[in-house]
Amino acid sequence: SLPASVRLVEVGPRDGLQNEARQIDTATKIELIARLSSAGLRHIEAASFVSPRWVPQMADGAQVMAGLSRQQGVTYAALTPNLQGLEAALAAGVDEVAVFSAASESFTQKNINCSIAESIERFVPVIERAQEAGIQVRGYVSTVLGCPYQGEIAPEQVAAVSRDLYQLGCYEISLGDTLGCGTPIAAKRMLEAVQREVPLTHLAAHFHNTYGQALANLYALLEEGLSIIDSSVAGLGGCPYAKGASGNVATEDVVYLLHGLGIHTGVDLAQLAATGRWISTQLQRPLASQVGLALTTD
Ligand code: HMG
Ligand code: MG
Repeated sequence: SLPASVRLVEVGPRDGLQNEARQIDTATKIELIARLSSAGLRHIEAASFVSPRWVPQMADGAQVMAGLSRQQGVTYAALTPNLQGLEAALAAGVDEVAVFSAASESFTQKNINCSIAESIERFVPVIERAQEAGIQVRGYVSTVLGCPYQGEIAPEQVAAVSRDLYQLGCYEISLGDTLGCGTPIAAKRMLEAVQREVPLTHLAAHFHNTYGQALANLYALLEEGLSIIDSSVAGLGGCPYAKGASGNVATEDVVYLLHGLGIHTGVDLAQLAATGRWISTQLQRPLASQVGLALTTD
């Protein structure tokens, strides 16, 4: 049955911006994060401490963190692929970090330059060190509903990587449909397999909307009781290592769906929609949220 409330993880400032070709001012990133927290989002992925040669747009993570005016009750998180990233994230004062692997070998190789098994090994000291520092670690599994290089992905493979990350100490596993190619029954089958290894209350859906299926897929998993959703304001984004993949499901669209279902989010939709319009204008991008467009009155 449907959950009473959903915790939203806003990934716009990270997943949404990481793929922008033109370098975005640090001040714009900071203002985006401030506007998102004002709209009621309580968990914001603010930066990425990855190699600047791999993802140049995220090179100013430390400056973004330093420039934030932190709101109480908001978790400011960042991606950390290795110890070097973790140390930088800790120095920058992040509240939480995330490690990331995938269900597909070829995607893992393209994204973080190692095998799935090597990625898990690499995360052992990262998670240990984060825990020493009193920081929680989230774990991402990418390509859970298909891979740009390998095609179909077995639900059991997603479950195995999810289990490994959970057993290493990740408190939550975020299931990424990186390519946005999934459909509802496939999403349910995937969740069913993962749930045998990781409790449902520790699972999040991180769906990209490339094929326009993200809301349908989310609804399918909400019906199963899933209650943590990653989304990106204005539907921004795309993964640099998944060519053709478009943005995450738009936070505005998710909030509209949830409120319509009577599910609590704590988000002010009008303020969120205004933020989506603002950042789309800043990036000179057409607004990629249907709800955002519908709520545009001027
Ligand atoms: P590598 O080249 O194998 O790493 O990359 P290395 O350890 O050999 O180091 C090479 C160079 O990178 C060295 O510099 C290191 O210092 C530097 P040099 O001596 O040559 O000048 N380096 C770093 N610099 C800054 N911060 C670091 C760092 N680590 C090494 N943390 C590596 C391996 C993992 C670093 C690289 O592949 C990488 O940074 N990948 C990140 C890719 C990425 O960010 N992808 C997008 C995020 S994932 C995503 O979007 C999916 C998700 O949204 C879920 C979904 O939708 O499915 C999460
Ligand atoms: Mg993503």
